Amino acid sequence: MKIAVLMGGDSSEREVSIKSGTQVRLGLERLNHDVICLDPADGGLNELALAKPDVVFLALHGGKGENGAIQGALELMGLPYTGSGVLASALAMDKAMSKRVFNAVGIRTPGSVTVNRADGTTHATRKASEEVGVPCVVKPSCQGSTVGIGFVKRDEDLMPALEGAFSHGPAVLVEQFIAGTEVTVGVLESPVSGEPEALPVLEIVAKNEYYDYDAKYTPGKSDHIIPARINPEAYEECQSLAVRTHTALGCSGYSRVDIIVDPSNTPWVLELNTLPGLTQVSLLPDAAKAAGIGFDELLSAIIAAALR
Ligand SMILES: Nc1ncnc2c1ncn2[C@@H]1O[C@H](COP(=O)(O)OP(=O)(O)O)[C@@H](O)[C@H]1O
Ligand SMILES: [Mg+2]
Repeated sequence: MKIAVLMGGDSSEREVSIKSGTQVRLGLERLNHDVICLDPADGGLNELALAKPDVVFLALHGGKGENGAIQGALELMGLPYTGSGVLASALAMDKAMSKRVFNAVGIRTPGSVTVNRADGTTHATRKASEEVGVPCVVKPSCQGSTVGIGFVKRDEDLMPALEGAFSHGPAVLVEQFIAGTEVTVGVLESPVSGEPEALPVLEIVAKNEYYDYDAKYTPGKSDHIIPARINPEAYEECQSLAVRTHTALGCSGYSRVDIIVDPSNTPWVLELNTLPGLTQVSLLPDAAKAAGIGFDELLSAIIAAALR
């Protein structure tokens, strides 16, 4: 097949996207596809219209590459692409909207409130403190990879954390902090049935206090443990929650769901990533490998889903 890999882009995750895209290109070449790499931040979409590939492989992360914008452009061009469509991408990227869906369908997620920059920081702080309180996590609603996130332990730290988050976007999610074991569950559509299936549950052990940007992307600053060291009931519940989350947001192809399992073995869904990292040391490829699905086979399954 002729496959265009979109990588780079102008989001804060550009560098990671280039790493994912490079691994994807190498994998697709091993599979004997005809591969071109294009960067939407550098005229790539115009070239794409001329190249007319059989399928577009999205190795973009964050921003317009993951929030439905590129997906909409590809719909207009009539090109099949990997991963989720416009609506699921937009819902998943917006943490506040995701939470509304989780709450509507009964997916367990930490209590939260959304505050807006337009309300003013003083009002936002009062609302956050009344409705959630500390300890809490303050997240810009439309950012990924832990950009602009704040962990607040004391009341007096809430306002500066909100100010920081508002500098990244107009809406901010304030969420109860859940202590526990951090896990992530990849979801992949079965090439046989087309149904989404959970990969093995992967436990993340960050060497920093939190799984922040540095811990995520600096080699050696976090460990992946598969299977996660949680009890069998919690393990199964994480897998079923991940598939339910994928389905509730209307995702396609693949995704990865971030979960915290608290000390009483209750899993809490944090978010779903529609375009999770695809470097060979990324979380989803690692979980796939533990399920006996090698990197190239994973790419084939993702492409098969896109063409279905
Ligand atoms: N409610 C929470 N309780 C405890 N830790 C959290 C909570 N929300 C986020 N975190 C931590 O912050 C990290 C990033 O949060 P997440 O919601 O996954 O956003 P993103 O990965 O898009 O930055 C998580 O992997 C987790 O380590
Ligand atoms: Mg996350």
